[in-house]
Amino acid sequence: MSKKILVLPGDGIGPEIIREAVKVLELASEKYSLGFELVEGELGGAAIDKHGVPLADSTLALAREVDAVLLGAVGGPKWDTIDAAIRPERGLLKIRSELGLFGNLRPAILYPQLAEASTLKPEVVSGLDILIVRELTGGIYFGTPRGTTTLENGERMAYDTLPYSESEIRRIAKVGFDMARLRSKKVCSVDKANVLASSRLWREVVIEVAKDYPDVELSHMYVDNAAMQLVRAPKQFDVIVTDNLFGDILSDQASMLTGSIGMLPSASLDSNNKGMYEPSHGSAPDIAGQNLANPLATILSVAMLLRYSFKHVAAADAIEQAVSDVLDQGLRTGDIFSPGMRKVGTAEMGDAVVAALAKL
Ligand code: IPM
Ligand code: MG
Repeated sequence: MSKKILVLPGDGIGPEIIREAVKVLELASEKYSLGFELVEGELGGAAIDKHGVPLADSTLALAREVDAVLLGAVGGPKWDTIDAAIRPERGLLKIRSELGLFGNLRPAILYPQLAEASTLKPEVVSGLDILIVRELTGGIYFGTPRGTTTLENGERMAYDTLPYSESEIRRIAKVGFDMARLRSKKVCSVDKANVLASSRLWREVVIEVAKDYPDVELSHMYVDNAAMQLVRAPKQFDVIVTDNLFGDILSDQASMLTGSIGMLPSASLDSNNKGMYEPSHGSAPDIAGQNLANPLATILSVAMLLRYSFKHVAAADAIEQAVSDVLDQGLRTGDIFSPGMRKVGTAEMGDAVVAALAKL
């Protein structure tokens, strides 16, 4: 039976980076006889324009039925003034939540070829290989009550809630420890246990889970310190496991260690490793449609899709190798450009990866 992948290009640079990623996926499918069938749908602003909502029921039904989802990015100024309940981002949060994609893996790996592109000194970042495991379907992103109200004195007030249940913490902690076992066996759990009740439970549960992983070294860090350590000495980290909001912030920060957020793929997995794969960056409306965006994060997300949802290690390794080969050739999009390199556009970068993959 053929495996189905739902492709959701989304908004802004989404369609152009997905176009390149799909070229790579189609070649990999052919080369390794994977026999994938691709179906396309809308998410975010594109879905608002077509269906009036950021995630149509029919698209959600399709997402449940397929084996994996490949997503570009969502959002843009066109939909910024729209009712908050149907903003493009709501579609993204809904698909994550409805599919139960609680485990978000965001690797921050510095390709040695890009040491010069990082804003940090090469010796601080060379060899960097961190995996951020972010809880993706709980915490303050989904907590209730939330809303805006008016106080007795007439002042407006808004509030959010940050809840975490034991089972939510336990399952993401397990993902962190399982991932660490495949790497350098070190987990740093990031929280704000000196202030937040939810973080104190987080820490307690992570310590309980750690008992099942005596071979993995566990440390804890407050999120403010973690933000500092990430730019001071990032190589001290292997796996970072953290909540939804802290993970959102720290993963953007970690991306800059690698030269550009345009290099960071991500996987969002449910308990059976069904997943949605997307670059960690946003829809970059300012450069959309200009052939300027870096498609590598999306192409590397295709590698993660093959690795995690289809256990096709050889194809995943080959795509990552092809990306490395293209960087060796000196090809750079604007975000990772440094003097002496050859500046290319989105499509040329994608074509170069396809050519490199074809040669492997
Ligand atoms: C991310 C993004 C999203 C998030 C936005 C677009 C809702 O920043 O995937 O990191 O905050 O999770
Ligand atoms: Mg983010």
